[in-house]
Amino acid sequence: MVDLGSGDGRIVLAAHRCGLRPAVGYELNPWLVGLARLHAWRAGCAGSVCYLREDLWKVSLRDCRNVSVFLAPSVLPLLEDKLLAELPAGARVVSGRFPLPTWQPVAVIGEGLDRVWAYDVDMDVHHARPAATSCPILPTPGPGSALAPSLPSSQAG
Ligand SMILES: C[S@@+](CC[C@H](N)C(=O)[O-])C[C@H]1O[C@@H](n2cnc3c(N)ncnc32)[C@H](O)[C@@H]1O
Repeated sequence: MVDLGSGDGRIVLAAHRCGLRPAVGYELNPWLVGLARLHAWRAGCAGSVCYLREDLWKVSLRDCRNVSVFLAPSVLPLLEDKLLAELPAGARVVSGRFPLPTWQPVAVIGEGLDRVWAYDVDMDVHHARPAATSCPILPTPGPGSALAPSLPSSQAG
């Protein structure tokens, strides 16, 4: 699992706690990389998660099965291209706060600032099917949900 722009590392930690291995955060800001490592250490996960100071545009996603993003809408069209070019079929992408502009979500969870969109990379996505006109909006999942954790507005980085 990778979080592209991992900020203070909370999503990577949550993913690790959900059983995703390995869990990696790529973050450009070195202070945030340090803060994420501190949080992991305090959580007793220092050796289990990985935060790297990397430009997300320069890392390969070819081996990734789960990708989390919470990035500015202006970069999401370009990110779609990268995800489409690099992710294997079957990969899942979860976008927090802002949806990917043209992909078809398989689920929309949460409300307002806490909303996340989940996408599965399959043949439909590879053919860049336009965004759905309707998609079920699901309640925020409880503990144990198979979907990636939502982004509480109070914690959004
Ligand atoms: C809105 S925050 C999201 C943080 C975290 N993923 C979360 O959900 O709490 C976006 C993060 O992306 C990082 N970022 C922006 N552009 C980046 C890039 N090109 N490479 C790596 N990180 C980047 C920013 O420094 C910021 O920490």
